[in-house]
Amino acid sequence: MAEFTLPKHSKPTKGETFAAPEGAARVRAFNIYRWNPDDVDATGVPKNPRIDRYEIDLASCGPMVLDALIYIKDHVDSTLTFRRSCREGICGSCAMNIDGTNTLACTKAIDDVAGDVAIYPLPHMQVIKDLVPDLRHFYAQYESIEPWLKTQTPAPTRERLQSPEDREQLDGLYECILCACCSTSCPSYWWNSDRYLGPAILLQAYRWIIDSRDEFTGERLDNLEDPFRLYRCHTIMNCAKTCPKGLNPAKAIAEIKKLMVERKY
Ligand code: SF4
Ligand code: SF4
Ligand code: FES
Repeated sequence: MAEFTLPKHSKPTKGETFAAPEGAARVRAFNIYRWNPDDVDATGVPKNPRIDRYEIDLASCGPMVLDALIYIKDHVDSTLTFRRSCREGICGSCAMNIDGTNTLACTKAIDDVAGDVAIYPLPHMQVIKDLVPDLRHFYAQYESIEPWLKTQTPAPTRERLQSPEDREQLDGLYECILCACCSTSCPSYWWNSDRYLGPAILLQAYRWIIDSRDEFTGERLDNLEDPFRLYRCHTIMNCAKTCPKGLNPAKAIAEIKKLMVERKY
């Protein structure tokens, strides 16, 4: 039977408070999920996660949530763990749940959050530590759709050409940075991620299905023709609402379903 309350060992407890320095002019509090698998009780069981509170003077750090996290790590608590790389909304590493929404910490302005800023890891994923989710299964699913150009005709002497119209088909797809914000906001993916590919991977699958240069469209559709891999999408639309790049994975999924019906490959 589905369980709707957190298991005993997953319930966050109240953690430490790191008060703002004296004389701080613009104080904001960041309530951040902390969990360390090496932090165990006397019986060797990892302790419950906790929520630590960091009061930061915004005059000392940049305007984005990622700036505050980096400030905390550098000046307040070096044990805080999170992923980041580009700080430009390009690499997808800093995806996390901020103020109740999955988004990128580097493009989320602190001023866009009213009151204390609550920060959790992406939901419904195993946590490796603090704000770092385990994305191995997500990447294995990505690999399963063979995200590269597949051809059987001999390679031309120069590149495989595409008309401007065919290239336009990739707009709204190629911009995906695989941050997993959409998949981890999708209730169908929460309950069936072992078999359902989820919105991010299906958007990527459609990106290759619709590429005019790819010659394996039929095989790609065969690979998705399954009650779970594709058809667990129930058009709930959380994915499109949360995508920090403004993409619409639900639409891509609907397009794949349409191609399945029209099936000429
Ligand atoms: S579709 Fe959007 S939310 Fe989903 S993985 Fe791509 S960029 Fe992230
Ligand atoms: S539209 Fe489909 S993929 Fe998107 S959140 Fe809903 S069920 Fe998940
Ligand atoms: S750090 Fe690369 S997307 Fe945020």
